[in-house]
Amino acid sequence: MTANPLAPAWLAHPEDANELVAAVWPAHASRNAEGELTVAGVTASALAAEFGTPLFVMDEADVRDRAAGARTAFEREFARVGSAAKVYYAGKAFLSTEVARWVAEAGLHIDVASGGELAVALAAGVDAAILGFHGNNKSPAEIDRAVREGVGVIVIDSAIEVERVAEAAARHGVVQRVRLRLNSGVHAHTHEYLATAREDQKFGIAMPDAAEVVAAIRALPSLEFIGLHSHIGSQIFEPDGFVEAARRLLGLQAELLAGGPVPELNLGGGFGIAYTSADRALPVAEIAASLADIVASECARLGIPIPVVAVEPGRSIVGPSTLTLYEIGTIKDVLVEVAGEEGQDGAARRAVRKYVSVDGGMSDNARPALYEADYSARIASRASAADPALVRVAGKHCESGDIVVLAEYLPGDVAPGDLLAVPATGAYCWSLASNYNYLGRPPVVAVRDGMARVIVRGETEADLLSRDAGITNGKQ
Ligand SMILES: Cc1ncc(COP(=O)(O)O)c(C=O)c1O
Repeated sequence: MTANPLAPAWLAHPEDANELVAAVWPAHASRNAEGELTVAGVTASALAAEFGTPLFVMDEADVRDRAAGARTAFEREFARVGSAAKVYYAGKAFLSTEVARWVAEAGLHIDVASGGELAVALAAGVDAAILGFHGNNKSPAEIDRAVREGVGVIVIDSAIEVERVAEAAARHGVVQRVRLRLNSGVHAHTHEYLATAREDQKFGIAMPDAAEVVAAIRALPSLEFIGLHSHIGSQIFEPDGFVEAARRLLGLQAELLAGGPVPELNLGGGFGIAYTSADRALPVAEIAASLADIVASECARLGIPIPVVAVEPGRSIVGPSTLTLYEIGTIKDVLVEVAGEEGQDGAARRAVRKYVSVDGGMSDNARPALYEADYSARIASRASAADPALVRVAGKHCESGDIVVLAEYLPGDVAPGDLLAVPATGAYCWSLASNYNYLGRPPVVAVRDGMARVIVRGETEADLLSRDAGITNGKQ
């Protein structure tokens, strides 16, 4: 069989359209003897029968292992260069009380970016001292609660926040540890990074203004300055952007050391993961080793002590651990003109793109619509020997941009009623979910050792109607 000319260049025509490419699927996903997809020993059909579809299926041991693996790698590599490291889990990727406890049990700190995320972490019962609180527009009430609850570190994002945090700390009679987020001018996205003098974005303090803001922090007795912070972007595959950011921040660190201690340096998150067979993610051990090397060599060059380095990965901890299970409803073959190709008769050449529609879509995964993010997919309920066909997986929303998987090969006999699994949906899918078209947000189940349990329940129609004041005020 030949490749479909409508397929993007990166998508190889597969030998076997049932194959689960290891880097893209949860660690404990496999096909059983009957060819059905299983996660940690539970079949897709059993999960769908018990919990319905769409369904987020999280491989619990995979999340725990990735959290522990990140911590071990960073601690080992920074110990090698004579320092130490802290790994924060960036809760914005996916946060529930269970997940907060898993990562805390793995020894990670947790980064929260709103009062709501803070509330979830606190409800999990984790020690507030392991939390870092981010945000470019934290409300005074959010700051007050964070200080009152004993959040370990608040990341100051603008000069205005210095006073706000200091006042809250004074009010509660504590000394609040703070970092200062910098706009380092380095912005990385996937394989490229951009370095400018000032990056045009809302986060952080421009490098030239940083010394003045740090001096203001140090002058306030209710604040303790512990270091600089930068986050350069997401889904990063090359270390160059981190290297450049570390260089810039350490240069400033050397200047700041003249005025007092700067014990830590936070280099943010953004480590890329594989969404498709074409993505090659860097192993966390390699990222940790290159960051340790660059931080150590820059500190040696500058003649300063190596700080404790913190990082904040979110996507790389939860992203690959989870798949979304959908049921296929309708299928249609659409004849599409192949761009730039004509047949012998001069007429445009056409090829078939199979539109496979599922029972969720942009309400449970906004990333393809938001960022044209690529995903992959497999039939989950069975394996098939049918020749691969190029498909586009669409959702059920009233938007033509409601695409779940732009391009994938599935067995050509894919049919209504098949269960479809989309892997690598653990990060920024459930957390970005909406109720568009009044779809309820799906449940999240954790699967471990042959057992599945709900960790976030799905929304029912009653949930959706419960906030409609036209009903609840009795005037319907
Ligand atoms: C400040 C900060 N830290 C960490 C992260 C986590 O990034 P990722 O999930 O790509 O690792 C983000 C993501 O936007 C962020 O803004």
